This record gives sequence, structure tokens and C-alpha cells, in this order.
Amino acid sequence: MNTSISASGDLPLDPAAAFGVAGSSSRAMAPRTTLAPGEKLAVHDLTMRYANGHTALRDFNVSVSGGEMVVVLGSNGSGKSTFMKCVVGLNRPTSGSVEVAGRDLAALSGKALRRARLPLALISQNANLVKRRSVLANVCCGTLGRHRTLGTALGRVPREEIEPARAYLDEVGLLHLAGQRAGTLSGGQAQRVAVARALAQRPHVLLADEPVASLDPEAADEVMRLLRRLATEDGLAVVCVLHQPELAARYADRLVGLRRGRMEFDRPASQVSSQQIAQLYVDEAS
Ligand SMILES: Nc1ncnc2c1ncn2[C@@H]1O[C@H](COP(=O)(O)OP(=O)(O)OP(=O)(O)O)[C@@H](O)[C@H]1O
Ligand SMILES: [Mg+2]
Repeated sequence: MNTSISASGDLPLDPAAAFGVAGSSSRAMAPRTTLAPGEKLAVHDLTMRYANGHTALRDFNVSVSGGEMVVVLGSNGSGKSTFMKCVVGLNRPTSGSVEVAGRDLAALSGKALRRARLPLALISQNANLVKRRSVLANVCCGTLGRHRTLGTALGRVPREEIEPARAYLDEVGLLHLAGQRAGTLSGGQAQRVAVARALAQRPHVLLADEPVASLDPEAADEVMRLLRRLATEDGLAVVCVLHQPELAARYADRLVGLRRGRMEFDRPASQVSSQQIAQLYVDEAS
């Protein structure tokens, strides 16, 4: 493997071989940025009508502060992913606003918008790792949004990002797998690596769209515990879409119910009845 250091001081994107994975825990070094007290993700009157005329989200409002974990529930097609994509900028909402720490993303464009979106990280159902790359290289990919140089465009990682990437891997309990090819991981391990990659982006807001959909109960529990800890201990604002109401009730501070693109409820998890949840999945036509 080529482990040479480029002229720019960056490292090749598959650096695991150059940096041994043995050694003591580096968890304390994991750099973290968080929302300041009082700052939050705030979504106002969000409406998304797709080009085919279908309105997937209507006048949706929600806010999530640092340290909070909110779970969004709703049946297939109710608009959950549409909401998440609007927040991270993969969808351009028809109307409404997405504010992070008081900054309205819709009012920004170009470089300013790209920067403003950096504190938002999205994890999806499939970990979407680069299978032939090492676990560590995949985590390093999370840093690339912060570095826009010729070197990173060529797939190189700034050398100062290697140790933090190892620390994020340690944080999800997988530092021992840093040098392993991502394609060899179990589903649960891959999803935890996806969380580490998201952390490498140094987000204030972590969005997870069905992060445990393909995991067995134990692995699902592990990923949910991890997300919960990132909210409680590290102060991230966590928004998670789930199809498992029981997991939602166990881990969330608040539950948001979506039905046909409209909010049905946004309440503390302890105040949502199983009847209210069941109602989200009832087909009105039946
Ligand atoms: N690009 C698109 N163009 C047109 N319609 C779309 C588009 N993306 C999603 N939709 C529609 O918007 C609605 C909401 O889709 P969305 O993916 O947000 O649902 P979801 O709640 O995430 O469902 P699931 O639980 O199955 O993931 C669906 O009816 C879907 O068909
Ligand atoms: Mg979805």
C-alpha cells in the first residue's frame, strides 16, 4: 500500500496501515463542538411539494435543543425522510425555514450555505460505507467537508484528522477494527462506523433516518444507546426516525408523530399513549 505523505502534508485516504491500531484509548481526545445553551435546530412551517405535485410535508414545525433526542414516527410515506432531507439540504423545501443556532439556512447560498450545513450530519438506514476502504478511512471521509483543497479533492486526508478519527472510532467502541476493510463489518458494526463518520464531521445536530432498520434487536439497542449518549453526554441535538415505537419510547425525550405529511403530535415520550402511536399507522381508507 502507498503510505507516502503528499506534498501538501495530507495523507492518502486509506491510512490505517500507516497508523497502527494498537495502543491505549484515545477517547478523551475526540474533539466535539456543540450548540451553545439556548441554541437549537428550529424548523418552521416546512412544506415540501415534489415536482410531480405531491405534497409530502405540510406546515411542519419542530425544534430540538442540544442534549435532546427526538424520535419521529410515522407510517411508510408519511414524510419522515422528506423532513430529514429538507433539514440537511438534500431537498429544497417549497416553503418554510430551517434554522440552526439562529441562522436561517434558506437565506444563505454558496460557500456560506455549505459552511452553515456542516453542523448537520445525516446517517441513513444503510451505513453507505466505502466497502473496499478501511474502517478508519471511512471515518476520515467525514472530515472532508471541512477541507476543500486539491489534496482532499484527490481523496487525501489532512494528517491532523487521523487521530481525531481514531478517537471517534474509539467512541463507538470500534477502534480495534480501524484497519479492517469496511466491507467485512457486520450490519451493527457498519452502522456504528457510520456514526463515527458523522461525528468526524463535528456536527451539532445528528439526524438518523431509520438507523437500526436492518439490525437485530441487540445491535439496534447498541446503536440507540450510542445516539442517546451523544445527546445526553455530548450535548448533540439528535433527531431519529424509527419504525419501532418501543425503542422510541425507551430512548427519546420527545416523540413526533407524522401522518400524511402533517404533524399529529410532538410530546414528551412519557405522555404519548400507545393508542396515539397506533393511530399513526391506521390507513384512513380502511
Ligand atoms: N423525489 C420525489 N418525488 C416525488 N414524490 C416523492 C419524492 N420523494 C418522496 N416522495 C413521496 O413523498 C412521500 C413521503 O416520502 P418519504 O420518503 O418522506 O416517506 P417516509 O415517511 O420516509 O417513508 P418510509 O417510512 O417508507 O421511509 C411519499 O408518498 C413518496 O412517494
Ligand atoms: Mg423514509
